[in-house]
Amino acid sequence: MEIKNRFAYFEGRIVPIGDARVSIMTSALNYGLAVFEGIRAYWDPVRGRLLVFRLDDHLKRLWQNGRILCMEPPLSRQAMAAAVADLLRREAFPGDVYLRPLLYKSTCEIGPRVHDNACDVSIFATPLDRYVNTEDGIRVIVSSWRRVSDAAIPPRGKISGSYVTAALSKSEALLAGADEAVLLNESGAVSEGTVSNLFLVRDGVLITPPISAGILEGITRRTVLTLAVELGLEVVERTVLRSELYVADEVMLTGTATELAPVIEVDRRPVGDRTPGPLVRRLAKAFDDVARGRSDRHADWCTPVSL
Ligand SMILES: Cc1ncc(COP(=O)(O)O)c(C=O)c1O
Repeated sequence: MEIKNRFAYFEGRIVPIGDARVSIMTSALNYGLAVFEGIRAYWDPVRGRLLVFRLDDHLKRLWQNGRILCMEPPLSRQAMAAAVADLLRREAFPGDVYLRPLLYKSTCEIGPRVHDNACDVSIFATPLDRYVNTEDGIRVIVSSWRRVSDAAIPPRGKISGSYVTAALSKSEALLAGADEAVLLNESGAVSEGTVSNLFLVRDGVLITPPISAGILEGITRRTVLTLAVELGLEVVERTVLRSELYVADEVMLTGTATELAPVIEVDRRPVGDRTPGPLVRRLAKAFDDVARGRSDRHADWCTPVSL
């Protein structure tokens, strides 16, 4: 049976999803003036509840990013967390769910501007199993588009307008027969995927580009760095160049939707033996155990919502 979205949080309350509509004059729609989050809630079939992963961290990032666009959210972070829980209970999807909070410029004035204008908040939730094939691994290409720099649209901001580059790159990848794209930054170094951060493994060391490479400060990235240290792995944040992707032992993309996705091919060159590598598998298992509440460690990362 197809499960349909029925509700959304819109203009301060939960409404039928069809009533959650904005004017075609809205600044967010015309100029890309919005910041958003993607949050996963994992279904716990044993206890019939959802576990929202790192909710506080996602809302903290949303509030921080709102500051970049001079936004004063019309509710507190605590009220937003309560709205997330309310929405999940109303939708009552018995499976893994993806949540999309959006902080958007609701003003209908003509002309782009970030200061002294109104913003509002919306949230929808939708069932989401896998975003990419995390079991068998994915094939990526290096995009011909560049990751936007902090001097243009701050990449840390998760700003709606900046996802034009992500869309161009994702389509480039799909039309080339690959699954995902990796973007270089303005300096030609590796930054990240279209909606994911990037890791590689060389000689047992886990390497990831630094925040200064023009990446989103990924919450899954931070989670993986913590879990890797707990597993006793050596972890390095440093510049990664394109050719290093071709000689890496393992490559992985990480993100809320993407989860931990092993990369088995870069620009048609095999990564390792073209199957998910051992360290990526170990990290993915550790992540799954924590996010699905199967491990006692980091229980504070999971907010339970009983349906
Ligand atoms: C551009 C970009 N990079 C990285 C990520 C991964 O971030 P997170 O792990 O917080 O979902 C995302 C997705 O949110 C993204 O859109």
